[in-house]
Amino acid sequence: MTYNLLKGKKGIIFGALDSKSIAWKVALKAHEEGARFTLSNTPAAMRFGKLNDLAGKTGSKVIPADATKVEDLWDVFKKSMEHLDGKVDFVLHSIGMSLNVRKKRLYDDLNYDYFIKTLDISALSFHKMLQVARKLDAINEWGSVVALSYIAAQRTLYGYNDMGDAKSLLESIVRSFGYIYGRDKKIRVNTISQSPTKTTAGSGVKGMGNLMDFTERMSPLGNASSEECADYCVTLFSDLTRKVTMQNLYHDGGFSTMGMSLRAMNMYNRGIDCDCLED
Ligand SMILES: NC(=O)c1ccc[n+]([C@@H]2O[C@H](COP(=O)([O-])OP(=O)(O)OC[C@H]3O[C@@H](n4cnc5c(N)ncnc54)[C@H](O)[C@@H]3O)[C@@H](O)[C@H]2O)c1
Repeated sequence: MTYNLLKGKKGIIFGALDSKSIAWKVALKAHEEGARFTLSNTPAAMRFGKLNDLAGKTGSKVIPADATKVEDLWDVFKKSMEHLDGKVDFVLHSIGMSLNVRKKRLYDDLNYDYFIKTLDISALSFHKMLQVARKLDAINEWGSVVALSYIAAQRTLYGYNDMGDAKSLLESIVRSFGYIYGRDKKIRVNTISQSPTKTTAGSGVKGMGNLMDFTERMSPLGNASSEECADYCVTLFSDLTRKVTMQNLYHDGGFSTMGMSLRAMNMYNRGIDCDCLED
């Protein structure tokens, strides 16, 4: 079912790699809802991913950029405004990567060059994006900027490693920049804190399969899928949420408010009798 929620709206979507990516689903949904947009990802991701297929399906232009490089972001916003005939109404930041996670470095044995890279790619890139957009005056009044986060910003979750620190910083940037952008330009800035989801980035997290089973059992509504996340993003890009800003919005089936559920307790009781619990 479509609602034409984004009819006439223009945007930029960062971070679609392949059909599992959350940004990929957002692009399909935004297209269905009537938006026009450009797509961006790193040159390497464009070689390994399938971004051109998505561009074909949605009639979008692809503009390569490393989101840690301010000059690349400058290029994306300028070319997007040229291609879309003016300012944009929405921006999606769906970018995250940790070399410590990839190389299986544990949190008490981090490589600090990797750690800085994690923060730069997964959090500072969002500040860079907002700063470039503001300097270029690239977003229309009542526009909406959304980044994707995870509950490891607030809670310690085994295996999430330095990405938890990156997500905390990301959410802090939302508050700090959200104030300035809201005050000066009436632009909304929010994060969506999404359930664990099977994507390329998600699959890198240690114990992801078991974590998804746990969160599914704990959440009264079950895990939120990437398609459902795309639905939520579209509402945040639409005019129906014009006074929502500086928020971290949980999209997790209720997980973030639970302490223990019957389904999770049943599973725990089954496991507690075997001698297989590890630290
Ligand atoms: N999958 C999950 O369980 C989950 C849960 C909550 C939040 N998130 C967040 O959702 C977002 C999207 O991740 P996803 O799960 O769709 O995985 P994904 O791997 O499909 O997307 C991550 C994207 O980041 C891009 N990227 C990495 N380095 C970049 C750089 N320097 N410049 C520009 N782009 C770069 C990758 O190319 C990729 O397209 C991330 O912020 C992630 O942390 C994911």
